[in-house]
Amino acid sequence: MARFDLIISNGVVITAEDLGQYDIGIKDGKIVKVVAKGSLKGAESKRVIDAQGGYVMPGGVDAHVHLEEPPLFGKGSTADNFETGTRSAVCGGTTTVIAFAPQPKTEDSLLDVLKETHLKAKDNCYSDYSFHLLVGNPSEKALGEFATLREEGISSLKIYMTYEALRLNDSQILDVLLEARKQGITTMVHTENDDIINWMTKQLENRKLFDPKYHATSHPAVAEFEAAYRAICLSEFIDVPILIVHVSSPVAVKHIREAQSRGLPIYAETCPQYLFLTKKDLDKPGFEGAKCICSPPPRDGPEDQEGIWIGLIDGTFTVISSDHCPFRFDDSVNGKKTVLNEEYPNGRFKYIPNGCPGVETRLSLTLNADRLELKRFVELTSTNVAKLYGLHPQKGALVPEVSDADIVIWYPPGEMEEFELDNSMLHHNVDYSPYEGRKFAQWPRFTIIRGEVVWDRDGEGLVGKKGFGKFLKRASSSLAGSRQGGEWDINEF
Ligand SMILES: *[C@@H]1O[C@H](CO)[C@@H](O)[C@H](O)[C@H]1NC(C)=O
Repeated sequence: MARFDLIISNGVVITAEDLGQYDIGIKDGKIVKVVAKGSLKGAESKRVIDAQGGYVMPGGVDAHVHLEEPPLFGKGSTADNFETGTRSAVCGGTTTVIAFAPQPKTEDSLLDVLKETHLKAKDNCYSDYSFHLLVGNPSEKALGEFATLREEGISSLKIYMTYEALRLNDSQILDVLLEARKQGITTMVHTENDDIINWMTKQLENRKLFDPKYHATSHPAVAEFEAAYRAICLSEFIDVPILIVHVSSPVAVKHIREAQSRGLPIYAETCPQYLFLTKKDLDKPGFEGAKCICSPPPRDGPEDQEGIWIGLIDGTFTVISSDHCPFRFDDSVNGKKTVLNEEYPNGRFKYIPNGCPGVETRLSLTLNADRLELKRFVELTSTNVAKLYGLHPQKGALVPEVSDADIVIWYPPGEMEEFELDNSMLHHNVDYSPYEGRKFAQWPRFTIIRGEVVWDRDGEGLVGKKGFGKFLKRASSSLAGSRQGGEWDINEF
């Protein structure tokens, strides 16, 4: 029997802690050796990949991916299911995704929702996967199920402060946070002030302003940073960690940084749409701007993008996720065009399905921007994600005898032929990308999951198999949690 199943030689190996020239030996799906370049020369292995000086990193972990969700927002339903979404992920260097299991308001239980979501994903995934429970109805029954969720390997939830179909009020949020604290669960929060959005929407509609670009006007930054600040206060009151999802406004970043500097376990996520798009992308001729409608919206201009980059560089942000929320554009049954009719030839912004695809472009866009130190890039796109959601060091690391052999290999710098992105190059089930026409000088050359090559860009492309991806039972976050520990003590107040 060969000593290794796979050797990756001549790579510049980058983890969150280290950067150096190493060779990697893989056996039975695990990393078994990370040793000085050249040390594995001649070692017996079924396969050797010469990285030729390219970057070799832990595979991407994307913890914000919407797949095969029921239509919770009226018209429109997600274009990707677990098969096409995870297929797209692996072709972009992502080896683990955490998708959502959404509980509608009309549903009492979370465990039933979990069961249904397992059925959707089972035998369909190209990448490894898990779920966050999306709590739309924190009924007594649902709150009583948190302990069982933990036994089932679910250590995170998501809640919304806006959207009629999912929004929780502050007292419901406190109920969720208290139970999450008891069970060691991390709560992700979509922070936008629902009343501000609805009020602004009414103002715009009264003035007959319906075009896609007014989506951005209807979701002003104040709606986001007020709610982010409120979520921080609720988290501090219960003393429990939260992650604020898809932060787009530099003022929200400021609130988060201030909370962190007081030692609060406030974690933050941003997404490529807030680094590479602005509200101008919603103001394209006709209905074109609908392609870039998501919430919160891309902000005003380069100063806002820069504020987010600074938060990434200075350590305020914990993770970069895609918020892949795919709707087809040229589709009047389930996609963006469901809102077009004779009366409203450019639709009404308030009914346009919210979301952009991005699971396949997340890593390449961010790396090509060349703004982050490489170790920080790995931390934000893989290692911290694995830590926050209880997957580290199985995922997000290259620790011998411990980590799964999930790896992305990039081209040696300057060796890839630069190209302009065209949607036909992507593997999602969406008919556009917000990033078409952008130039890329890097793209994953190989993606490897548990030692198996699943993406070989210069060979046959997608070589992974549907059903290869496994469900991952997760532990609690390994990042700092409640400051006090023990029961929440009402006598403290
Ligand atoms: C919050 O929502 C719950 C459930 O709908 C409701 O019972 C409660 O009265 C609401 N609280 C406030 C302050 O509106």
